[in-house]
Amino acid sequence: MTLANPKIPESARAVAADGTQLRYALMEMARDMPAVITLGRGDPDLPTPPHIIDAANRAMRAGLTAPTPVPGMPALRAAIAERLRAENGLPVAADNVMVTTGGQEGLFLAVQAIINPGDEVLVPDPRYSSYDDAIKRAGGKMVMVPTARDDAFNLDAAAVEAAISPASKALLIVTPSNPTAGIVTEERLRAIADVCIRHNLIVIVDEIYSKIVFPPWRHFSIGALPSMAERTITLDAFSKAYAMTGWRCGYAAAPADVIGAMARIKAVTTGAVATVSQWAGLAALEGPQDCISEYLDIYIERRAVLLAGLKRMGFAYGEPRGGLFVWADSSSTGIHAAELSYLLLKEAGVLIFPGTAFGEKWRDYVRITMLEPIETLRAAIERMLPVLERYRL
Ligand SMILES: Cc1ncc(COP(=O)(O)O)c(C=O)c1O
Repeated sequence: MTLANPKIPESARAVAADGTQLRYALMEMARDMPAVITLGRGDPDLPTPPHIIDAANRAMRAGLTAPTPVPGMPALRAAIAERLRAENGLPVAADNVMVTTGGQEGLFLAVQAIINPGDEVLVPDPRYSSYDDAIKRAGGKMVMVPTARDDAFNLDAAAVEAAISPASKALLIVTPSNPTAGIVTEERLRAIADVCIRHNLIVIVDEIYSKIVFPPWRHFSIGALPSMAERTITLDAFSKAYAMTGWRCGYAAAPADVIGAMARIKAVTTGAVATVSQWAGLAALEGPQDCISEYLDIYIERRAVLLAGLKRMGFAYGEPRGGLFVWADSSSTGIHAAELSYLLLKEAGVLIFPGTAFGEKWRDYVRITMLEPIETLRAAIERMLPVLERYRL
């Protein structure tokens, strides 16, 4: 628990009351400030690999611009299914796959397709809070499943089972996790699958960081387990693995009737993903894959710099196992994470997100991204240190 720190200005206290919306308020503030180092949002700063841009360019020059069917270009759906079979072990065909406008739309469509008013969705705490709105709009209710630092933020089958009620409809898993950088290990997923089968739960698993896993940890897909394909919606996107956030191209894999329901909602909202982005997605899957390990090596180096900096700042952390974040314990500062994020933005010009943006109780945690070059990460740490000193009790 943080203490009330008398050095904290009233302006910082006021913003802390804003809960999960604070993320947006801080980003807004940062937009008007010069020379801010942004370690907030999780969009890769690395470039989209040139061969992907070239392929998209060639397709456009060849006039291949017509809209595709709503669930996606047949060649891309087939390539995604092939990738998911080969690398994730999912027993899927092209009609189990749809192309979505980034991972964000995939999660929204998945929730709208399966959640009815009154349904409960089990969500890990802390959580990627974009799911909140999707669940609320479907009339569903979130029920938190606790995770903890001394368990490396792994998800525990007994904790999932304890959260189940007669209204439970689905379990949400994000692995690797945003915000904790934990992964749900294969052994845990096997036990969780057993719980989901016994209680007839649908699983929505967001695997958008699955290509950013730090050895020796490995990604495992719950949809590959026996009797799970028929109850699992697997979400992924090109955004993180291929540094393609702005192309807005992701995908979902699920039973064909769920894909049909998702596509019907997509048809009356966004329609098919932009054709140029689908060509880019196809090139990402079919072209050389070296960028994935090259980018992973860059993130590994950045992670080491960031963790060393956090040590100097007196922040404790669990070792990040995957994804693009460090989820750090800031309790040694004695400052509420929301106030701390505000002060670091105002006085150090560094944007990070408070833990409270990902769950009300995480007032002693902050989420910091590794999405700037090493020199910028070092500069951010040098800027933050004196501010921490100023307010430390
Ligand atoms: C867990 C998770 N799911 C989905 C998304 C959405 O990604 P996209 O940019 O592809 O819409 C994000 C983005 O940060 C994320 O962290």
